[in-house]
Amino acid sequence: MGKLLLTGGARLSGTIVSSGSKNGTLAIMAGALLGKGETVLRNVPSIGDVQTMMDMLRALGVKCEEEGNGVVRIDATEIAATEAPYELVKRMRASFCVLGPMLARKGYAKVAMPGGCDIGARPIDFHVKGIQTLGAYVNIDHGFVEAECEALKGTQVYLNFPSAGATQHIMTTACLAEGVTTIHNAAAEPEITQLAAFLTGMGAQIEGAGTSTVRVEGVDELRGVDFEMPPDRMEAGTFAVAAVVTMGDVRIERISEEVVEPFVLKLREVGAVVDISETTMRVRANARPMPTDIMTMPHPGFPTDLQQPFAAMLAIADGTSVITENVYERRFRYVSELARMGAEIKQEGRTAVINGVPKLTGAQTTAYDLRAGAALVCAALAAEGKSEISDIEHIERGYENMVEKLRSLGAQVSNLPNEREKETVCV
Ligand code: EPZ
Repeated sequence: MGKLLLTGGARLSGTIVSSGSKNGTLAIMAGALLGKGETVLRNVPSIGDVQTMMDMLRALGVKCEEEGNGVVRIDATEIAATEAPYELVKRMRASFCVLGPMLARKGYAKVAMPGGCDIGARPIDFHVKGIQTLGAYVNIDHGFVEAECEALKGTQVYLNFPSAGATQHIMTTACLAEGVTTIHNAAAEPEITQLAAFLTGMGAQIEGAGTSTVRVEGVDELRGVDFEMPPDRMEAGTFAVAAVVTMGDVRIERISEEVVEPFVLKLREVGAVVDISETTMRVRANARPMPTDIMTMPHPGFPTDLQQPFAAMLAIADGTSVITENVYERRFRYVSELARMGAEIKQEGRTAVINGVPKLTGAQTTAYDLRAGAALVCAALAAEGKSEISDIEHIERGYENMVEKLRSLGAQVSNLPNEREKETVCV
């Protein structure tokens, strides 16, 4: 697994351009299965998870070509297979969401159950219940979810929790059902609105995306569409934290204001100066951050995917902060690693109490998951001395060209050759 070598202390300054949204892209690629004809996706981030989703589409016999410059062409006119292999679903949970579109197109789908991961059990009960409510017969055994239907029928679906993935999955499945489906207690994340815009471009009839009630009127057929991915709000938030912890001045281009609002307000609470004009966000800081409390919630609450980088920032705040993780059962895998850098964090269940210290020190650390890795990068940028971050594949699956972007802002960061590569060199 790869390593990053990062020397802290540089004040980041300059401009970066946000990449396309990882989470938005993955849901849209699954939704592309609904369309006959060619779909062209633009501004697609070149990251591990997108590669996995492309592998998944190809495994289903769907044409999927990476043209370069962020352009991916998908043609799902023919879906040759209806079974999604375990090794791909295991690699990335989001690939499970090919089940509904396959079912809607072919009347049958068999997809391996996604496993849990470091941040929680990640069950799929809301997804299964939604698809059953639409009229599918679902059988779960031997680690696979098998769904079959004569025809999908529009209906009322109630989500016990506003799950982003379940909302997306039921939305795509309902596009080709007979009649109207209403999803109650739906998630309102920006990625839902983005998916609805994409599906509408394919000819779907969707209202209410971005609210807690989404209405889908089924149509007979959807066609390919040319669609540009929106920017990644989690990348923007992560680089905003990097600017604050290094007391820098960073501009992030290609953002949308209402999407970044939940975390921008928190940045201002810790004392950062954040100016947003059109599609550019400028983040500046010239002192230690002040403490604040964070409670992660479904959108428009504070996003669970940013509490980790924010924890790194609060680790050097001038006071005590409390982070409460309300979305996942365990999302503090970074705590032990920040402690190696001198952070004072006490984590109990879903709560972490952070006593800010004046300075972190560089250390050898390990990225246990995508956002925990992002926290370590932010901490290392602020720390005194050198840090090594191992298992950076976790970071590379969700952040496009992170090293190049950090370097362009003045960070001292480089990829260390893999251990195995070093052995080869020695030999
Ligand atoms: C999406 O995951 C994102 N992933 C996550 O980002 C993000 O943290 C999450 O939404 C919340 O915003 C992608 O879009 C690929 P959920 P998803 O269903 O859809 C429980 C990242 O770092 N739940 O909203 O899987 C679940 O266990 C990733 O980029 C059920 O109980 O999240 C969790 O506690 C991490 N049963 C809560 O709901 C279900 O059937 C929210 O999960 C589904 C979910």
